[in-house]
Amino acid sequence: MAVRLVYTLAPYSLQNNDVADIAHKKIVLGVTGGIAAYKAAELTREFARNGIEVQVVMTEAARALVAPATFQALSGRPVFSDLWDARADDGMAHIELSRGKDAIVVAPATGDFLAKLANGLADDLLSTLCLARECPLIVAPAMNRQMWDNPATRRNLEQLRRDGVAILGPASGDQACGEVGMGRMIEAREIAEAVIGSLAPKLLRGTRVLITAGPTFEPIDAVRGITNRSSGKMGYAIARAALDAGARVTLISGPVSLAAPAGAEVTRVETAAQMFEAVKRNVAHAGIYIGVAAVADYRADRPRRDKIKKTDRSQLELQLVPNPDILAWVAARPRPPFCVGFAAESHNLNANADQKRRRKKVQLMVANLAQEAIGSDDNEVTLLDDQGTHRLARAPKTAVARQVIAHIAKLYGAWRRKAG
Ligand code: PMT
Repeated sequence: MAVRLVYTLAPYSLQNNDVADIAHKKIVLGVTGGIAAYKAAELTREFARNGIEVQVVMTEAARALVAPATFQALSGRPVFSDLWDARADDGMAHIELSRGKDAIVVAPATGDFLAKLANGLADDLLSTLCLARECPLIVAPAMNRQMWDNPATRRNLEQLRRDGVAILGPASGDQACGEVGMGRMIEAREIAEAVIGSLAPKLLRGTRVLITAGPTFEPIDAVRGITNRSSGKMGYAIARAALDAGARVTLISGPVSLAAPAGAEVTRVETAAQMFEAVKRNVAHAGIYIGVAAVADYRADRPRRDKIKKTDRSQLELQLVPNPDILAWVAARPRPPFCVGFAAESHNLNANADQKRRRKKVQLMVANLAQEAIGSDDNEVTLLDDQGTHRLARAPKTAVARQVIAHIAKLYGAWRRKAG
């Protein structure tokens, strides 16, 4: 008789190194005096949402632009600015605050602050922390386009690159001064993604991962079709987490309105048949296949090229034919990749999902409640594999995705060793 184990992995208190996440990471977020300082509030929220402990340190100029209370509320920690702040345990805030941290992120980083960093100046708490750090330094520049183009700024950036400082952005666009050009700080979400990516353990380094995401759209006529409410958020979060784990990701996406995850090779499709063809083209080199897409099970037998006209007849009959099961096809290949399916169920979640896992012959099935998972930002999933049932607590899809990827990495390693 098979014994099934049940255990719960809490996203923000992982005890198991195998599912090492970024949730336990600690960073210093340095905020300097640029107009983009308001975006640092959103960045603090992004880090906190992902379970990262954020210690905010502001320069005097930043305090003139955004009240420290904003950051205190978002990070849940007091904000520091003063080099000799008495709240630091040994009165040495410039040393203590950066110890045990996984990174210092300065966003926005003004031209003036970059100049200080490039020259090793340490005349306030943030610049002193940067000079005394033992962890990576990541900066997101923000300044007027002429300051950005100034040869002094270029020299400073070149020096920082040589010193191993990671530079995120800037972007081009409208500036607070009314001018248009290079120098805008990149968006908080992009900074958070890049920082999280750099902190994530490289559990799938070099592994090729093929992922499907989003809905499919099966045309009925020139303007109508059969689709579902999948937003692509779960699949794109899985792609992001795999990239952050060091994988080489190919993402086959149904019609969604999400930006492509930076670093992934993305193929956009509409119908299940197109998704199947794209999977066939890419599957040969994949070590892992993850089917997150909500693929339409049926399509119209003969979609009309023109728009179906309303007639006097009270009923319109639509002939539907089944679509190929892409996941089952991948799993049945002679030398299949490690296969992961997602099961969206409305009831009997675990039983139905496990049945699907066995029927489709996949190594792992990720079960979620369709009515709660589809379209939302959060998800609560149960992982079903040969070892048992592992329930993950409700969390943002980005955090769930990292745990799913960590679990996949663990199973994939064992599966490969077994396969020789
Ligand atoms: O996109 P979001 O809004 O973020 O929502 C996420 C999600 C709910 C869509 C996602 O978490 C999810 O559950 N995806 C799978 C949905 C689904 O179609 O489940 P299914 O039980 O019908 O299919 C099981 C598995 O077979 C899936 O991996 C599916 O990709 C695959 N399948 C299904 C039918 C088919 N013809 N081909 C397939 O490959």
